[in-house]
Amino acid sequence: MNKRLKRLQAALPKAKIKGLLLRVNESGQSTQPNNQNVLYLSGFGGSTAVVLVTADKALIVADARYWARCKIEAKQFELVKIERGNKVSGAINQALAIAGLTAKSKVGFESHRLPHQIWQDWQKDLKATLVATTGLVEELRQYKEAGEIAQLRAACKATSKVYEEVVALMQPGMTENDIAFEIDMRLRKHGAVDNSFSSIVASGPNSAIPHHATGERKLKSGEPVVMDFGGVFCGGYCSDITRTVFVPGKAPTAKMKEIYNIVLAANQAARKALKPGIMYRDYDKVARDYIQEKGYGKYFSHGLGHSLGLEAHDPFDYEHAPLDVGAVFTDEPGIYIDGVGGVRIEDDLVVTTAGAERLTMAPYWKF
Ligand code: GLY
Ligand code: MN
Ligand code: MN
Repeated sequence: MNKRLKRLQAALPKAKIKGLLLRVNESGQSTQPNNQNVLYLSGFGGSTAVVLVTADKALIVADARYWARCKIEAKQFELVKIERGNKVSGAINQALAIAGLTAKSKVGFESHRLPHQIWQDWQKDLKATLVATTGLVEELRQYKEAGEIAQLRAACKATSKVYEEVVALMQPGMTENDIAFEIDMRLRKHGAVDNSFSSIVASGPNSAIPHHATGERKLKSGEPVVMDFGGVFCGGYCSDITRTVFVPGKAPTAKMKEIYNIVLAANQAARKALKPGIMYRDYDKVARDYIQEKGYGKYFSHGLGHSLGLEAHDPFDYEHAPLDVGAVFTDEPGIYIDGVGGVRIEDDLVVTTAGAERLTMAPYWKF
């Protein structure tokens, strides 16, 4: 944890700021935090807090729901309590004062994460000169440390187990929601604390919709089912896997078999090409060129993959940052044909000096 903090502290002068304020809040319908930068820097995994990092201080401002967790999880951060009935901005001002900052001190905020309304309140209330910053912590999160990779490896191992259990119980007549329930329940059973996104189960014609909304459709023998799911595991690290399977009782069509084999070969070609230093666009191109060559280019309608970590779609500078050692990326080509069906096969890969290590070892479909 300390190393991360030190790296951020070293980045502050370059950004011409004396400190950085990070705010985490409950996201939408769930109590999941909406800013994993706070977890990454401090270890605090609760949903509501404001963190202040300066060259020599790290403070966390929280209300009574989180005082105990701040002490346990964010040991290197000084806790500033928001007492019941008091304003959050009052406690942030207390933190700014403890850090020796004044109204003239330039203090950064994460402009890409702070709602406009909160920014207006901070402008009015905080005793600091606020400066917009972007991506300071995201930049640190791009390449994973050994400990993070170990957690991702464990998350993917558990998720692969979930796949094997679910594919074994799939029967015609079950609904997409039945399958999603089995996935979600088994993710929990194998250690997940949450889903990293809502599980996608897309059957028959629905498999041609890349992000289908899982529903009550009943599975029929021989048709494809795209299952795309992942868990958030202890420590906050996410898995993200897709397997396309065929409902037992009837053989899949020759067309679906052809598409499946093309997607799998594209997935494997991209994995082989993933080496330290490759740019995302070139990694993507390997799978895209292969599918294009096979005549299905226009049916591969999304990117090859994304960075994975504390978020299923982890921050990464796709344009400028190479996929160096420690980058963790998904490899998820797909072909989606309206009226025919779709196939997506997704693995999570970590870039190593030797190339790419596959973390999602769940088997592929055997015809
Ligand atoms: N369904 C989310 C993803 O695989 O990226
Ligand atoms: Mn996925
Ligand atoms: Mn993905």
